[in-house]
Amino acid sequence: MSELRYDPTAARKLIDDATWDALAEPLHAARQETLDDVALMTDGDIPADKQPLDAGFIPYPDQLLNSPELDPMLESAERLRSEIDRLVVLGIGGSYMGLRALFEGLSHPYHNELSRADRGGAPRLYFEGNNLDNDTISGLLELLELRCKDPEQLQQRWGIVVISKSGGTLETAAAFRIFRDALEAYYGADSKRSTNLVVPITGEEGKLRSLSEERGYPDVFSIPDGIGGRYSVFTPVGLYPAAVLGMDVRPVLQGAADMTERFRTAPIGENPVLDYVATCHLLERDRGMNIRVLSTWGNRLEAVGLWYDQLLSESLGKHGRGATPITGVNTRDLHSRGQQHQQGARDKVITNVIVDSPATDAVILPEAPASLDQDQLNRLAGREVPSLLDAAIQGTNKAYADDARPTADLHLPRLDAHTLGQLLQMLMLATVVEGRLIGINPYGQPGVEDYKRNMSEILFG
Ligand code: PA5
Repeated sequence: MSELRYDPTAARKLIDDATWDALAEPLHAARQETLDDVALMTDGDIPADKQPLDAGFIPYPDQLLNSPELDPMLESAERLRSEIDRLVVLGIGGSYMGLRALFEGLSHPYHNELSRADRGGAPRLYFEGNNLDNDTISGLLELLELRCKDPEQLQQRWGIVVISKSGGTLETAAAFRIFRDALEAYYGADSKRSTNLVVPITGEEGKLRSLSEERGYPDVFSIPDGIGGRYSVFTPVGLYPAAVLGMDVRPVLQGAADMTERFRTAPIGENPVLDYVATCHLLERDRGMNIRVLSTWGNRLEAVGLWYDQLLSESLGKHGRGATPITGVNTRDLHSRGQQHQQGARDKVITNVIVDSPATDAVILPEAPASLDQDQLNRLAGREVPSLLDAAIQGTNKAYADDARPTADLHLPRLDAHTLGQLLQMLMLATVVEGRLIGINPYGQPGVEDYKRNMSEILFG
């Protein structure tokens, strides 16, 4: 299977060798601490200055691959998949962004538009519960009502996967109540479908857990203790709905497990996690470059970027510190952000995410009759779209290099389940290692709790 590759050559021109070498010791110490945290959690005696500690995501992909829990989860996903044609996923933050990254990266870009057969028998997907937007909630309810009239027809059946680790997040809880109401009105509150077509994924305790027990949902999946929301993509949070949507989750898990092993064993220079942290950290520490642009070359990785925005911001944006992440999608955003990246403040490190080969056959630029060559593209006729993209990548990197603007390239040989698993695990590990390196606990999100508390006080008094 093919490995992801991180190449910081261009960015390294702004970091001298002595500075790079001097970071080796603290970086190794941060890796050791990251790995030791896993054992610390197993011992159960977590010191106060380490809390919260959610390092469970590090060994989890390998554990789940070898666990008797995986098959029953996939069987349940297969059952739900065969019973509905529309899946409504309710969740916010870490409870939906990982699935979105997997879905956009691995599914057909026009999945919802395809016939069920062309979707491989998988349902269409809709997200809600990630906002309090009256119009989108109402729009989805309307769509379901318009398209689903006869529950006996598979093509007209829909279901819910509701995801909340705490079980108390208001956006998700309110959406669950609203969509549960609609679902029960459609199937009949006492019908089997009213319980069988709802799958909650939640922590061992909490309001959603209690509600699920009371309502008697037959399939409820647990989010393991010791894995935080934004680190939970490889738990049932991301994998259960991914499996319902027809994604093959085993290679995703294998990619993540392979990345953990590489992180554990590979030396600096061959270790994408350590090399990425070193590059970004040194440019931030020594040159004040505290904006991290994840520049994805292609549309299908945009949701990975948005997922990473959340991961980095919530993990390291604490105590008045932490780099600011930005997702760019090129070449699209060369026409929006490009000007600033080329000539704006020198505060950005650009990490290009480049897929070396497209998942589909190359599209070829056709030749036009000479009389219609006003666009003068006949000189390029016969060229494949990936070769045009490659020219854009090379041209952009050269322009940045000419102006001493640092770029690094993250290469995925292909965009598939195994490479996406590697990429997401790499970015999670890098976030934790950087936190340990700069003395910020990457787990927990105390600032977000403030808004939740204030909102509850306003609503409940
Ligand atoms: O990373 C996190 O912990 C957060 O983004 C949570 O995932 C988000 O707040 C949703 O929380 P919950 O799953 O408890 O509803």
